[in-house]
Amino acid sequence: MPSLTIGRAEARLPIIQGGMAVRISLGPLAAAVAEAGGIGVIAGSGLTPDEIKEHVAFVRARTSGVVGVNVMVAVTGFKELVHAALEAGADIVIAGAGFSRDVFSWCREAGTAFVPIVGSARAAALSQKFGAAAVIVEGFEAGGHLGTDRSVWDLLPEILETVDVPVIAAGGIADGRGIHRALTAGASGVQMGSCFAATVESSAPDAFKQMYVEAGEDDVVLVKSPVGLPGRALTNPFTEALSRGDVPRIESCIVCLRKCGREYCIMDKLVRAQEGDVVDGLVFAGESAIHVHDIPTAGELVRRLEREWADANEETRS
Ligand SMILES: Cc1cc2nc3c(=O)[nH]c(=O)nc-3n(C[C@H](O)[C@H](O)[C@H](O)COP(=O)(O)O)c2cc1C
Repeated sequence: MPSLTIGRAEARLPIIQGGMAVRISLGPLAAAVAEAGGIGVIAGSGLTPDEIKEHVAFVRARTSGVVGVNVMVAVTGFKELVHAALEAGADIVIAGAGFSRDVFSWCREAGTAFVPIVGSARAAALSQKFGAAAVIVEGFEAGGHLGTDRSVWDLLPEILETVDVPVIAAGGIADGRGIHRALTAGASGVQMGSCFAATVESSAPDAFKQMYVEAGEDDVVLVKSPVGLPGRALTNPFTEALSRGDVPRIESCIVCLRKCGREYCIMDKLVRAQEGDVVDGLVFAGESAIHVHDIPTAGELVRRLEREWADANEETRS
């Protein structure tokens, strides 16, 4: 597989482990992925600035690989969280769920590569103009909050035509064959979330990982998020109640989002799931969760992806 260069950071493999909040992708997962040759990403949304610094330091103490921090533009304290990542010396800052002009200048001043997650050619062009080191194009197949209703395979050619910076494909890529397809289409790399959520080093609880292993096609659903975007998750009693409009509105608010629809508290539901309540919590997952059949270490998963990519590459050459 080709290597991936973003700004001054070079990873041996073109694989970014997507940031997964709340507290699913932390130091242990990011370190394992970075050590295996990919780019490990700490999800900063829902952490304090000090926690972000601790997790970056955790990764740095274990590997010389590439580490990024992902912060959602929609969260309260976005600026403080991004600055914590910059002060901690993250190689890359990644942001999605909204567009912020400011983050481009914060990262430029710190000399750190900034990579926005985009869902349209227009957003990609704007990002390049403001100085993005690369763009991640995420399709509606992805887990978590969704910024588009279009497939990554439709968006990718449009965005490749529009920008010169490296383009990373995300959403629904579950194996080395998917990586091969994305690179053949012209992407410089892929970002994968769901398959890394179900690894040993992921900070998701066992019940969460087990839901991925057992998920079938009908279990992956779209939910309304108070962020104002749809989200993709695994069905459970909470999502069923939500689809019936049967969820009590929030009583106490911790103002975790800059703008919130207040249909329910997204932070509470994501924290619940991370703490093991997969009945009343929100278990974010992409369409590719149905391809998760076991819980390998992140290193084993990366080696498997390399083998699958090599097989796909061999097939196309012969
Ligand atoms: C549990 C979970 C949490 C996620 N949290 C975030 C997040 O905090 N910020 C973000 O930009 N993307 C988030 N994502 C999206 C991933 O970073 C990644 O882009 C996406 O999962 C790619 O699609 P895939 O799951 O099909 O591989 C999340 C995805 C999952 C599955």
